[in-house]
Amino acid sequence: MSLLIVNIKKLVQVEKKPRKWVAGKEMTHVACIEDAYLLTEGDRIAAFGPMQELDRELLEQRFDCLKEVNAAGRLVLPSFCDSHTHLVYAGSREIEYMDKIRGLSYEEIAKRGGGILNSAKQLRRATEEELYEAAFARLEEIAGLGTGAVEIKSGYGLDVESELKMLRIIRRLKENTPLLIKSTFLGAHAVPEAYTGRQTAYVDAIINEMIPAVAAEELADYIDVFCDKGFFTVEDTDRILNAGMKYGMRAKIHANELDYSGGVQVGVKYNAISVDHLEYVGEAEIDALSGSETMPTVLPGAAFFLNMPCSPVRAMINAGLPVALASDFNPGSSPSGNMKLIMSFGCVNYKMLPEEVINATTINSAYAMGVQEEAGSIAVGKRANFYITKEISGIEYLPYAYGSDLVEQVFLNGKQL
Ligand code: NIG
Ligand code: FE
Repeated sequence: MSLLIVNIKKLVQVEKKPRKWVAGKEMTHVACIEDAYLLTEGDRIAAFGPMQELDRELLEQRFDCLKEVNAAGRLVLPSFCDSHTHLVYAGSREIEYMDKIRGLSYEEIAKRGGGILNSAKQLRRATEEELYEAAFARLEEIAGLGTGAVEIKSGYGLDVESELKMLRIIRRLKENTPLLIKSTFLGAHAVPEAYTGRQTAYVDAIINEMIPAVAAEELADYIDVFCDKGFFTVEDTDRILNAGMKYGMRAKIHANELDYSGGVQVGVKYNAISVDHLEYVGEAEIDALSGSETMPTVLPGAAFFLNMPCSPVRAMINAGLPVALASDFNPGSSPSGNMKLIMSFGCVNYKMLPEEVINATTINSAYAMGVQEEAGSIAVGKRANFYITKEISGIEYLPYAYGSDLVEQVFLNGKQL
């Protein structure tokens, strides 16, 4: 089946020649076509251009089953790519939310057996079916909010069987939802209770037991480590990424959220596809990232929710780096996968321009999860993953109206949801 979307007020983020990412000053530019059409064939984008170049007769001859959608007054954007989530989880953690309001820090909550270990306890008690259903519902929710591709991590299992359970759920989600999903093994999210005081032994278990088991079932596209103060050291990270690499898992890590942890440098050393969080980034980190193949990824939802300092996004962009934004959807530090809200946080808290947040949540976040050839822009041959907005004035209105759902119709793989 083919879809012909006509009278699009503005077709946003079009690319004639798909780029790897958008960096530095280029981030202030988003190519658009006013009064445009968009044609899909099967699950792919087949053509697009200005309405006056649309030859209906030719199209009707070439495509037998052509469904027309009138987008008058509305914009069309490529679906968001959310390159960092932990959306397979059990229960919720609003008790800790209250603790935070009362003044406890993230690390203090973690030390009291809250935080990641709390989610690990809840996850082990939940059945695979319960976890699958809950994650499926979260995917439906974010798809309705405009997300078309999402990376999902394990990391609430923290033993071989429970990590495998999480990754098998992610595999089922890959097979049974229209979203484009990448999976990441995050055994090194926290040291589980069974290994209290024996962090090195847990790292050994990750290397000798978990990684081979995950690889044997081909369950992970990437490997992650929470390389930060109070969690895993640079030395631990080095060992884990080295072991993952031997099994073909590319690094994609949590770095520099709580301190200048050395996470960025060790990530770049292993050619990580992305280093994420980045609240503590200075000249040394920017130098390490410059000229690398690693996408600096900022998670404004977690910084907002935990009241953390903002990552120096402007300094990174001024240094010519690309920047991606992702939701970090998880029960502890960012219980929302709303990428439009992430754009608003990007504008207000990081002083990014609307064009910059669009690039950061589409092309750049597509790169950060390795789907830039399939998603992240309106380009011929990419997946037909896009959404039609409500009637709005222009792209600036999207982050501006931060509490409004402005996504009217969602199309994934050329099919309307
Ligand atoms: O990305 N920083 C580490 N991990 C998650 C938090 C997960 C949790 O608190 O459950 C994050 O923010
Ligand atoms: Fe995270």
